[in-house]
Amino acid sequence: MWKKSSLLLLISLFGTCLGRSVKGTNDVKRLRQDKRWFPISPKVVIFSMYADENVWVEPFELYANITIPGLSPLFPQVQCDWKGEICHITTGEAEINAACSVSALLLSPDFDLTSTYFLIAGIAGVNPFTGTLGSVGLARWAVQVALAYEVDSRQIPSNWTTGYWLEGTEEPGQAPAEIYGSEVFELNTNLRDAIMPYLDGVKLNDTEAAMTYRANYDYAPANQPPQVFFGDVATSDVYFAGSLLGETFGNITKLWTNDTGVYALTAQEDNASLEAMVRASKAGLMDISRVILMRTASDFDRAPHNQETVYSFEYNQGGYEPALANILIAGQPIVEGIIEHWEHKFKKGVKPQDGWLYNSDVLHTLTTRKRKRNFGRFRG
Ligand SMILES: *[C@@H]1O[C@H](CO)[C@@H](O)[C@H](O)[C@H]1NC(C)=O
Ligand SMILES: *[C@@H]1O[C@H](CO)[C@@H](O)[C@H](O)[C@H]1NC(C)=O
Ligand SMILES: *[C@@H]1O[C@H](CO)[C@@H](O)[C@H](O)[C@H]1NC(C)=O
Ligand SMILES: *[C@@H]1O[C@H](CO)[C@@H](O)[C@H](O)[C@H]1NC(C)=O
Ligand SMILES: *[C@@H]1O[C@H](CO)[C@@H](O)[C@H](O)[C@H]1NC(C)=O
Ligand SMILES: *[C@@H]1O[C@H](CO)[C@@H](O)[C@H](O)[C@H]1NC(C)=O
Repeated sequence: MWKKSSLLLLISLFGTCLGRSVKGTNDVKRLRQDKRWFPISPKVVIFSMYADENVWVEPFELYANITIPGLSPLFPQVQCDWKGEICHITTGEAEINAACSVSALLLSPDFDLTSTYFLIAGIAGVNPFTGTLGSVGLARWAVQVALAYEVDSRQIPSNWTTGYWLEGTEEPGQAPAEIYGSEVFELNTNLRDAIMPYLDGVKLNDTEAAMTYRANYDYAPANQPPQVFFGDVATSDVYFAGSLLGETFGNITKLWTNDTGVYALTAQEDNASLEAMVRASKAGLMDISRVILMRTASDFDRAPHNQETVYSFEYNQGGYEPALANILIAGQPIVEGIIEHWEHKFKKGVKPQDGWLYNSDVLHTLTTRKRKRNFGRFRG
């Protein structure tokens, strides 16, 4: 393809001439005038949720700032390398910011994302029964656990164990009855398996402070060194803590995944980003089977057994620093692996597990023509 090769030549010329100390704005303007640079078709797009998680600009030389409408006012630009191979956005925190920013990128005519891989890479709370401070979790399921009814636990019936129960149901523990569509997403586990070899032998960061806090737990994996593990992510705008809510949302994760999901990590954005991605996939703008959801653990979601009522929040657990470091330590080989093995392995996509397309969201958006809604019973 003539166009593409001359485009690559042009871009590599730019890259070589400009080197690391590009001036940015003017160069992007010049590229904009050259119709051949747009739409940009990156091999990998990375999502951070807030500024500290953006560990990518220097390692990947993401110095081309591209302004598109609809991103967070705090992070209004897509940042790309000069080859247009790797791009990054910061979505802004929690569900609303994530949904809006990801939609803006996916709908932007400046980008062709039909064969792009997406790495959602942020920090998270961790269930001490599945991981520890600094651990790196790769998800199959993402569940919007707080999409539920709630009553303060001081006012629950005496035989209830929690103040959360699912919409359309009568009490905690009942299976889902009412569906909004964003409750649960399943990701391509074959893609997850395909990138695991790139994480072989990575040496995860750890700190004295994290080791000290971890020693308060008398069970594994909480008291073990950080590792890469498979674990599902719960999404909630509310930054919750404590064993009762941890168990509640673990139970809800099981309800939404027919007992196959294990609540391991907690974050404030993933289901929102994934909802935008399912919609864009339905429109043929991207491929939802090319999404990797990686979360690194910055704090335990609950206290050690003997300190249940004096739960100390994330700041004094010592996990924040290794969690940020491990975004790059684990994420960089994934991105580099995808690019290095692009032609023979990733370009054509990684075939997902059987039945996946149907489950990729709870409305089965990608396999049904008509949106089916189960209105269930409404407690009016
Ligand atoms: C790109 O944008 C970031 C913040 O959005 C800014 O810090 C940086 O200086 C910009 N880089 C260039 C090359 O303009
Ligand atoms: C959000 O995503 C998590 C997995 O990351 C999934 O378990 C959960 O069901 C999703 N929840 C909603 C409401 O989308
Ligand atoms: C609680 O007790 C009520 C009244 O006996 C019963 O209908 C309900 O099923 C019980 N709920 C739970 C969660 O045990
Ligand atoms: C890992 O943690 C150590 C100890 O806190 C820190 O000094 C170091 O800079 C970290 N390494 C990386 C690669 O982030
Ligand atoms: C979670 O579910 C288990 C098994 O049904 C139950 O024993 C436990 O009380 C539930 N936890 C909460 C906090 O509701
Ligand atoms: C759970 O099982 C129900 C009933 O068989 C099915 O409709 C639903 O798609 C399943 N959900 C998941 C996430 O597998």
